[in-house]
Amino acid sequence: MERILVIGSSGQIGSELVLALRKIYGGENVFATDIKEPTPEVSASGPFDKLDVLDFNNLLHYVVRYNITQIYNLAAVLSGNAEKIPLQAWDINMKALMNTLEVARQTDAKKLFWPSSIAIFGPTTPMENTPQLTVMEPNTVYGISKLAGERWGEYYFHRYGIDFRSVRYPGLISYKTEPGGGTTDYAVEIFYEAVKNASYECFLTEDTGLPMMFMDDAIINTIKLMQADADKLSLRSGYNMAGISFDPKGLAAEIKKLMPEFTITYKPDFRQAIADSWPASINDEIARNDWGLEEEYDLEKMTKVMLEKIGEKLGN
Ligand code: SER
Repeated sequence: MERILVIGSSGQIGSELVLALRKIYGGENVFATDIKEPTPEVSASGPFDKLDVLDFNNLLHYVVRYNITQIYNLAAVLSGNAEKIPLQAWDINMKALMNTLEVARQTDAKKLFWPSSIAIFGPTTPMENTPQLTVMEPNTVYGISKLAGERWGEYYFHRYGIDFRSVRYPGLISYKTEPGGGTTDYAVEIFYEAVKNASYECFLTEDTGLPMMFMDDAIINTIKLMQADADKLSLRSGYNMAGISFDPKGLAAEIKKLMPEFTITYKPDFRQAIADSWPASINDEIARNDWGLEEEYDLEKMTKVMLEKIGEKLGN
């Protein structure tokens, strides 16, 4: 029986991933951990412990004590926040990964998921239909740490046999837990503001195209990658994952179809430069062929669900 540790279980991905994993593996076999308080659903459905991934000894003891066999390490400072505290963000993002890789090497927790990102690409990368292997010169702290992290994961796979698996997430869109400090966060904020005020001031320009994905698709595909036979995986860095590509203008138009009174204005801030350095669309053929990446949600379906669910959540 697998015993799974999720690090960062109170965050945007973790709070939903824990629930999905518990449905498959049983509540008692999925150990949720974070330095932040859990969501009510996470705390009600199985074990939760406060655990700081930066504390190597505590992490090691936890993994040994609970006979953990798989780790999902989702702890990270996202792109926008990282630019405000570059050295700290580098330390946190890299130490969180290196501690987990070392714990994997020293224990039975040999299977490890760690999220990479579209942020590993940079201004010299081809911006449309970006291939898996291409120029990668990220110019953000977050992107540099993700690219270095992919290299380290692959290194631990070849050198120590760690079953490292990763995807390059596009912007993730969900109505349950909000993201914290990313560049793609506008595509979540816009829905809350639409429901609350029928208007939104966007921190990116109207034509800033970025790849995005609805959270349900991200979770299903993450678990699919972790369950895939190892011999199907031709890559041990991060797989490109395209999702759906749109710009703020396109998303606003989709919202207007359901809410004609919705209006949007644009006031780009420092995150514009980050977004400009990332691809507008991604090619994810390799993930589709290797382990069956597929999505259910397009822009229309996602917009409908986001407006409905946030409306319910805010009591509208
Ligand atoms: N969504 C992330 C961010 O904007 C990218 O991985 O920081």
